Amino acid sequence: MGKGRESGMPDEAYWQTFFNPECIVAKLDCAGPGDVVEFGCGYGLFTMPAAKLVSGAVYALDIEPEMVAATAASAVKAGYANVVAQERDFVADGCGRPDGSAAYAMLFNILHIEEPVALLREAYRALAPGGKVGIIHWKLDPATPRGPSLTIRPQPEQCREWAEQAGFRFVRGEDLCCCSWHWGMVLERPQTHERPG
Ligand SMILES: C[S@@+](CC[C@H](N)C(=O)[O-])C[C@H]1O[C@@H](n2cnc3c(N)ncnc32)[C@H](O)[C@@H]1O
Repeated sequence: MGKGRESGMPDEAYWQTFFNPECIVAKLDCAGPGDVVEFGCGYGLFTMPAAKLVSGAVYALDIEPEMVAATAASAVKAGYANVVAQERDFVADGCGRPDGSAAYAMLFNILHIEEPVALLREAYRALAPGGKVGIIHWKLDPATPRGPSLTIRPQPEQCREWAEQAGFRFVRGEDLCCCSWHWGMVLERPQTHERPG
């Protein structure tokens, strides 16, 4: 287990140039009541806008202590008391949140890891029925300045299929006009329906 393949980060200033994080988080429905679980927070680029938009806690998880420290420091600087930055290997040990406890899960630039369906299943487990997962990843374009190797870079159709295997229902795709090199997608954990009596 351990750190997912090709998931190291370049320096922070360079990474930031690729994203409009406020726009991405808002477009992918990360807002409102309830907790967020962020799988692989990196520098916390998406953690801060999520913390601003939700009323619950944002559990920002990463296997790299430097990433956790950077995210925690950004939260202190921005004054977000609802960020819980934790060092954790979520592939080996899961995200640590109780079943059905979260309203939103972020899988941003992470589904190229070795076992994407297992990670989606873990997100599904932690989400409450009706909870949503936002996915973003690099486009399959050789001109992209970063991103995992094209041979392991999953495309929207593939991510949708994996997510549906994990039990999610597709909500919609987002082409993220605020961001040149990424696509996005929202899915949800279906509501459970009571059997008619
Ligand atoms: C490509 S970065 C993306 C970071 C952030 N989501 C973003 O888009 O800015 C992937 C992050 O996932 C973390 N990661 C990879 N495998 C992990 C694992 N098994 N458990 C926890 N974090 C992991 C890496 O350390 C890295 O910070």
